[in-house]
Amino acid sequence: MTILVTGGAGYIGSHTTILLIEAGYDVIIFDNFSNASKESIKRVEKIVGQNITLIEGDIRNKTDLEKVFENYSIDAVIHFAGLKAVGESVEKPLTYYDNNIYGTIVLCETMAKYNCKSIVFSSSATVYGDPHTTPIKEDFPLSATNPYGRSKLFIEEMLRDLHLSDNTWNIVLLRYFNPVGAHSSATIGEAPQGIPNNLMPFIAQTAVGKRACLSVFGDDYDTHDGTGVRDYIHVMDLADGHVKALNIIKKLSEVMTINLGTGVGYSVLDMVKAFEKASKKEVPYCIAPRRAGDIAKCFADPTYAKEILGWEAQKGLEQMCEDSWRWQSNNPNGYKEED
Ligand code: NAD
Ligand code: WQD
Repeated sequence: MTILVTGGAGYIGSHTTILLIEAGYDVIIFDNFSNASKESIKRVEKIVGQNITLIEGDIRNKTDLEKVFENYSIDAVIHFAGLKAVGESVEKPLTYYDNNIYGTIVLCETMAKYNCKSIVFSSSATVYGDPHTTPIKEDFPLSATNPYGRSKLFIEEMLRDLHLSDNTWNIVLLRYFNPVGAHSSATIGEAPQGIPNNLMPFIAQTAVGKRACLSVFGDDYDTHDGTGVRDYIHVMDLADGHVKALNIIKKLSEVMTINLGTGVGYSVLDMVKAFEKASKKEVPYCIAPRRAGDIAKCFADPTYAKEILGWEAQKGLEQMCEDSWRWQSNNPNGYKEED
């Protein structure tokens, strides 16, 4: 089976590509490199010991996409391509709607034209907004507090409408919680451009000495130590969820919406402590005001994923921190030679 992986050069896409190839799939990566480096694919090729078909193109460009479907017989698409920085989405909402929503429309139109109607979509726990309680189940009310989150919500709705209009589509919406960690080879990992928005890369860059100190955004939340609680999930576990989703995708009669999380919530300070232990480095921090739009607690009820996919997270916090640290310390500037 041939899988088109949009955004396959990015953080989650590159890790998923490894497991897809190991599971025997042929993979075609399609990426515009707006937030990735070709080096990530070279390193994936080394890990899997084979060349990977890589096509540089933009999902908003019909001609780029049609060329791929003309030249290859694609059985299913895993759709990672998208912009993901919450703060930037507030400043540039149209850019986010264009890239994420319009891009997905062009992708689905092209898929339909070539009669490829199986898609796994990268959604996010952000579609739960500020949940009334935790753990979060898939049927909780949905809302969004920023254009990035709204783009995910709209795409989910769009894909549901698509299925209503034509039930030969096979659609899986995977709602990721907080992906962290790296492949055990420490040759690929998360490589944010500029100052990281997310906690784990910020902690890792602080431990390696690239940042002086971590700002902990708020210590007065209603959580066990006052700092925000999240469901951190190892990126290889997340990657495995995609392989498992492909196993069932052709048998679906309904759109499947599935949480991918561990079911365990850790606070910011829990993460700092665990990272210090794994790296044997100090992570200096100071308490800063709350970040606008943040919520106190967010963690998954992953029961449905186990039931429907036979998937559950295998890697714990220690391994997440160890693997993030190994990637960060071996590649202090990510995929670049120097910063
Ligand atoms: P990433 O930025 O590392 O990967 C996204 C990839 O898509 C990049 O390689 C980028 O170059 C590519 N891309 C972006 N726009 C494109 C376009 N128009 N055409 C072609 N390629 C394009 O991000 P990631 O962390 O790997 O996330 C993958 C997906 O998962 C995204 O859709 C993201 O919104 C979603 N997601 C991520 C997280 C997270 O915290 N990392 C959480 C939930 C959901
Ligand atoms: C985690 C915790 C922060 C940075 C975001 C997106 C979400 C999803 C995942 C894509 C929070 C605290 C953070 C720092 C801190 N992405 N923090 N200092 O906010 O749960 O989710 O990424 O879909 O849509 O919103 O993740 O890693 O930014 O924050 O104290 O420098 O760490 O306040 O409690 P978040 P995060």
